[in-house]
Amino acid sequence: EAIEKGGFDHFMLKEIYEQPKSIRDCLRGRLIAANGHLALGGIHKHYQELVNANRIIIVACGTSWHAGLVAEYLIEDLTRIPVEVEYASEFRYRNPIIAPGDIVIPISQSGETADTLAAIELAKEKGAIILGVCNVVGSSIARASHEGAYIHAGPEIGVASTKAFTAQLTVLSMIALMIAREKKTISEQKYLELLYAMDAIPEKVEKSLELNAQIKYISSIYKGASNFLYLGRGYNFPVALEGALKLKEISYIHAEGYPAAEMKHGPIALIDEEMPVVVIAPHDNSYEKIISNIQEIKARKGKVIAIVNEGDAVIETMVDHVIKVPRTKEELMPLVSVIPLQLLAYYIALDRGCNVDQPRNLAKSVTVE
Ligand code: G6P
Repeated sequence: EAIEKGGFDHFMLKEIYEQPKSIRDCLRGRLIAANGHLALGGIHKHYQELVNANRIIIVACGTSWHAGLVAEYLIEDLTRIPVEVEYASEFRYRNPIIAPGDIVIPISQSGETADTLAAIELAKEKGAIILGVCNVVGSSIARASHEGAYIHAGPEIGVASTKAFTAQLTVLSMIALMIAREKKTISEQKYLELLYAMDAIPEKVEKSLELNAQIKYISSIYKGASNFLYLGRGYNFPVALEGALKLKEISYIHAEGYPAAEMKHGPIALIDEEMPVVVIAPHDNSYEKIISNIQEIKARKGKVIAIVNEGDAVIETMVDHVIKVPRTKEELMPLVSVIPLQLLAYYIALDRGCNVDQPRNLAKSVTVE
C-alpha cells in the first residue's frame, strides 16, 4: 500500500497532487489549443443532437453533482441551451419531464452509483439520449450510456473525491466549448481564448499546490472549529458547496456551502468570532459584490479565509487570511479555486486525527439505494 501511495501519507493527498497530470491526461489528444482543435472521440453519433438539444439534464450525486452545477453555469452561459441539474435520487422518483431527444448527462466517478444508474434507465425509457461522463472504464453507467466521454483521471482511491472532480470539470468544459463553437454562441476569439486558458490549467493547478505550507498553517489555527461556512458566487458557488462537502466528509466538522448573497437569508445569524468563513473571491464579475459580503461577515466578527487571485491587494486588508491562486478565465476558475479547499479539508482532518482516506459511514461508491 505504501508503494501505491507513491510516497504520500494518504491516497487523498496523492490524488490532490496528481491533478496537474490528471487534467493533462484528460485534455490529451482532445484539445490542441495551437490549432484550435477540440474533439471528444466518444461523442460522435449523437454529436448533432447534443448541439441542437432543446435542453440538457445532468444527473449525479455528491461531488459529481457539484461538477454538474458548474456545468450548468458553463453550458448555459456559453451555449444558451437550458440545463437542469438533478440529484439522481430525486430525479428518479419525481416523475420528471423528459422528452424524446432530450440529452441526459450522467456524471459519475465510479460509474456504479445506484441512483444515477436508475435515473439513466428511466430517462432511456422515455427516449432521452444518454451521454455519460465517467471515470471507470467499462463501468455500469458507462455501459448504460449511448455514448460519452471518459474523464481519464486514473483510479481514485480516497473516499473524498478530488481529482475526479477537476477531470469532470475538464470534460464538461470541453463539451460546453464544442457546442458553443458549433452553434456560434461565442466568438471564435473567445473560443480560442478559452482553449488556451484550458491548456494552461494544469500549470495553474501546480502553482496552487505550492500553497500547501500556508494552508497547513491555516488548518492548524481552525482545526478546533465546530462549524464552517463556505461562500462563493457565480461559477464559484458550486465550489463553495464542494469545499464544505470535503470538510464534512473527512473532518466531521459541520460545514455549509452557500451562495454568498444568500447568506443574509439565514447563515448570517450564525456568524460570530467563532465562525470561520471561507470566501472564494477571485477577480471576476462578482468581485465588488463579494467584497460587500466579506464586509458583512467582518462586521459580525467572523473569521474570513479568502481565496483570491494573485495580485489582489484589496481583500488582504479586510480579512484574516488570504490564499492567492493564479488567475484564469472566470469560466474555468473552479478548476483552480477548488485546490486550496481540498488541501484545507485534508489538513484539518489530519490535525483532528481522522481517517482521511476512509471516513466513517461513507463509501467510495454507493451501489445500493
Ligand atoms: C459517494 C462518494 C463521493 C461521490 C458520490 C458519487 O458518496 O463518497 O465521493 O461523489 O458517491 O459517486 P460517483 O461515483 O457517482 O461520482
